[in-house]
Amino acid sequence: MHHPSVIAIDGPAGAGKSTLGALLAARLGYLYFDTGVMYRALTYVAMEAGLDLADQAAIEDLAARVRIEVAPPDHDDGRQYVVRADGVDVTSALREPRVERNVSIVARYPGVRRELVRQQQEIGRRGRVVMVGRDIGTVVMPEAELKIFLETSLLERARRRAGEQRGLPNPPPVEQVREDLARRDGLDEHVLRPADDALILRTDGLTPEDEVAWIMQQLARRG
Ligand code: DC
Repeated sequence: MHHPSVIAIDGPAGAGKSTLGALLAARLGYLYFDTGVMYRALTYVAMEAGLDLADQAAIEDLAARVRIEVAPPDHDDGRQYVVRADGVDVTSALREPRVERNVSIVARYPGVRRELVRQQQEIGRRGRVVMVGRDIGTVVMPEAELKIFLETSLLERARRRAGEQRGLPNPPPVEQVREDLARRDGLDEHVLRPADDALILRTDGLTPEDEVAWIMQQLARRG
């Protein structure tokens, strides 16, 4: 079976892109690259540096200066990757609520997108990679041979997210998770659309294993 060098997976927050991307990459022996972590790392570094996130010029300038690396984990501690900013491991900070709240402000700045897209393209062009994000099929890797766009209803995404958080000390109610996701949908809308040649995968009711099986079928069909 011929496998494409780059597989792009795009879709809204909470659609299960990361779980699917990591599983598919492991199955194919490819690198798993979640591009959202670069926007998160930049947001974290900006906040740690005390920058005003509303200061577009300062944030764009930072994006051009800071070196963000995404690498496979150096030891087996359950992480899917290690993210370093100027050599410092920032992986565990990337899911902090303050990063979550502010990342979409940073991700809107054109200078930030230009710089991070350029870096993502460098990694993508090395090949054998599953890239996950919002604009991989349309902007970052429009040449990707296989593009998947996940569509999942807001309610299903909220249920899954709430399920993941159930073990935490103060799990938010599904309704709250649903509102947060709807807000993020609005903020991400500017980049989120399927490429003309993307395959749409509707994931309501599917497990990640089902989704991988579906993608493997598409690959087999292409020969
Ligand atoms: O996928 P995520 O939740 O980690 O994404 C974090 C933020 O970065 C979110 O606001 C969308 C944005 N993002 C983007 O604009 N383009 C990408 N390729 C990936 C993420």
